[in-house]
Amino acid sequence: MAPCRIAVIIGHPDPASDRLCRTLAAAYASGAEEAGHAVRTLDLSVLEIPYLRTQVDFETGTGKGDVARAQETLAWAENWVILYPLWLGSMPALLKAFFEQVCRPGFAFRYRDKGFPEKLMTGRTAHIVVTMGMPALAYRWFFFAHSLRALKRNILAFIGVKPVRETIIGGVGGLTADKVAALMAQMRAAGASVR
Ligand SMILES: Cc1cc2nc3c(=O)[nH]c(=O)nc-3n(C[C@H](O)[C@H](O)[C@H](O)COP(=O)(O)O)c2cc1C
Repeated sequence: MAPCRIAVIIGHPDPASDRLCRTLAAAYASGAEEAGHAVRTLDLSVLEIPYLRTQVDFETGTGKGDVARAQETLAWAENWVILYPLWLGSMPALLKAFFEQVCRPGFAFRYRDKGFPEKLMTGRTAHIVVTMGMPALAYRWFFFAHSLRALKRNILAFIGVKPVRETIIGGVGGLTADKVAALMAQMRAAGASVR
């Protein structure tokens, strides 16, 4: 299996090391590295990510500082692993702010005079891992996994990132140590199997 370049994006606003998302991200990265893949991690909790305020900034500005460095990593990577906790039914605002900053025209897509914008991130794949308090089945079948689908369709597909794997981890409030260990093994295996 040829080595791949992987960006692990930790979309958790809390920098605490014991957050489940961070534990899963570390397992994913170690599995990938052990399999010979190159991994760069973007931990959003420690990056400077300002809120995008205007359409003019979106369309004419460029990412600066940590945002520009994150864009370099996203451009470098062939696979994006995006991990986040479900907050109020969606991704945390920090992760949305990140996508608004990095997915600017000129970098992630290009407007055309006519028709659909050109996707500039084609050739990349992604794996979304979302954790939540409710059971995974409830999120998928009662809420139709709407935030995950929005990320997949309205952000990733829009800029050309596909196919996208998804892992929904529910019931995190009641996870035993054994279950966490099993999830870490699942993440290590996912990291090792990136192609
Ligand atoms: C602000 C906030 C909002 C949350 N909203 C939801 C929610 O809408 N649905 C849900 O199932 N869990 C919700 N949760 C629970 C988190 O998804 C859960 O604690 C998280 O996935 C655990 O992962 P972590 O250890 O990485 O934080 C919420 C937690 C917080 C702090």
